[in-house]
Amino acid sequence: MKKIAVFASGNGSNAQAIAEYFSKENEARVIMILSNRKDAFVIERAADLSIPTIIFNRSEFYDTDKITNYLIGQNIDLVVLAGFLWLLPSSLVKAFPNRIVNIHPALLPKFGGKGMYGHFVHEAVVASGDTESGITIHFVNECYDEGQIIFQARCTVDPLDTADSLAAKIHELEYAHFPRVIDEVLKTF
Ligand code: GRF
Repeated sequence: MKKIAVFASGNGSNAQAIAEYFSKENEARVIMILSNRKDAFVIERAADLSIPTIIFNRSEFYDTDKITNYLIGQNIDLVVLAGFLWLLPSSLVKAFPNRIVNIHPALLPKFGGKGMYGHFVHEAVVASGDTESGITIHFVNECYDEGQIIFQARCTVDPLDTADSLAAKIHELEYAHFPRVIDEVLKTF
């Protein structure tokens, strides 16, 4: 059975969708959820799913190799970033080459980079007047949102869409595709 570690900083609805998807098959499992915020709602979701959580602070993450070494020690096959807001330290990226995936709630390379997360992305898309947005699932390197793109899916941005209504459309795309694309990536290992 392949082992997935999910990083999330906030709500965690994608983390839950991924964990539920893999709970129904034997090929892979989400065996831990890691977060930089002990009060994030994803921690409650993890408890409901009976998935162990690891909480870490900035200095543990950036000044030590504690998290990287823990993931290596647990024989993690794939690291999934699902609404995780911190840039990964290079030791972590180097330890899992082409084994870290992220989801971005827009069509990269547009609307990516530092500070472009969550609502900021949807607000920028609506303000731009673009008539489509979507999701990008990509491998992670040491720069925000710049790793190789694995998959994109699109939705329309209608004239009456707000950042909130666009966020809802994007979440539907995320739930429909992210677990499935992770499954496909795992099958290539
Ligand atoms: C998602 O839209 C994801 O694409 C982005 O942050 C959001 C996280 O939502 N990176 P949730 O925490 O999974 O509910």
